[in-house]
Amino acid sequence: MPQTNASNEYGYRSFSVGGFSFERDEYFAHIKWPGGSHTMPMDAFLRALMRDISWSFFYGIVNFDQVFGTTNHYGNVDVFAGLYNAGYRAQNKHHVENFKTEEVRAVFEAMLDDWTNEGFDPFAAPEETGTPFGPKRGGNRAAITRKRLVANRMTGMKGDIPLRTDAAGNPVNRQFADVSQDEPEVHAEPGFENEVHAFNFFGYVSRSDVTWNPSVCSAVKYSQVCATTEEFILPIIHGNDRVEWFVQLSDEIHWDIQDRESGAPRARVVMKPGDVAAMPADIRHQGYSPKRSMLLVWENNDATLPDLYAKKKLKPNPVDF
Ligand code: PHB
Ligand code: FE
Repeated sequence: MPQTNASNEYGYRSFSVGGFSFERDEYFAHIKWPGGSHTMPMDAFLRALMRDISWSFFYGIVNFDQVFGTTNHYGNVDVFAGLYNAGYRAQNKHHVENFKTEEVRAVFEAMLDDWTNEGFDPFAAPEETGTPFGPKRGGNRAAITRKRLVANRMTGMKGDIPLRTDAAGNPVNRQFADVSQDEPEVHAEPGFENEVHAFNFFGYVSRSDVTWNPSVCSAVKYSQVCATTEEFILPIIHGNDRVEWFVQLSDEIHWDIQDRESGAPRARVVMKPGDVAAMPADIRHQGYSPKRSMLLVWENNDATLPDLYAKKKLKPNPVDF
């Protein structure tokens, strides 16, 4: 591996993948590539890096900001600078390199591990975590190796992930103190006790200890329904390679919607409880949640979709009004 094990004067290692190199100091990530360089504040960089890794480079494009990011080709990954930035493109200053997914993952995981200080949790809301800044101070492996919860059958049923909405589970989040914790009564016919189930979904989600991290709570063929709790800013600007649906379950999220390729503004969407939105396949978006909110993200996991949209065999918007 081309990584150095020596630490710099702040205690941090430097990393590289292909022509990209990454260094950190007390406040910033410094990214360089042949022909350019870029600086990101460490809190934003680590929050984006955390999600890029744990979502396996996600659907389509993960913009860390308006300059740096990754594009998932499902098996290989582009790492880019300025590729989806109209200004960089106009001056031919963009740079992109393609890697096997495993190669980028190994470098990104090692970087996240080395650069995350004790007390900083990249998944936590800013009000609920310590600082990422300063010279190197311990680490936080427990936080950065969390796995998303994936249900095998209806959540809470025998053989699936335990619900843990009792004393053994996470405490109810400070901003969801008003969410009822009552559980529904289930009266199954004899013999169907292992097939019929119900639980208080709001109560369950009110105990999430992470932000902007959709967990698959139902998977039926390609349909993946993912619940997540949101507070502050979605740490990535997501460039879609398929349509995705949002259902705002509680509180409010403000979305900036931009053209996926150039970043040109397209819409502002303020979602209130009960609102449903279809995010088109040709946009990028970033959400702002002024207080902790609950969002349901509905993804279509069909691997043939990106190509169908890219070749314009499907319209980018699923509904015409
Ligand atoms: C999205 O990019 O659509 C997205 C990602 C994470 C969330 C919510 C939405 O928590
Ligand atoms: Fe998205």
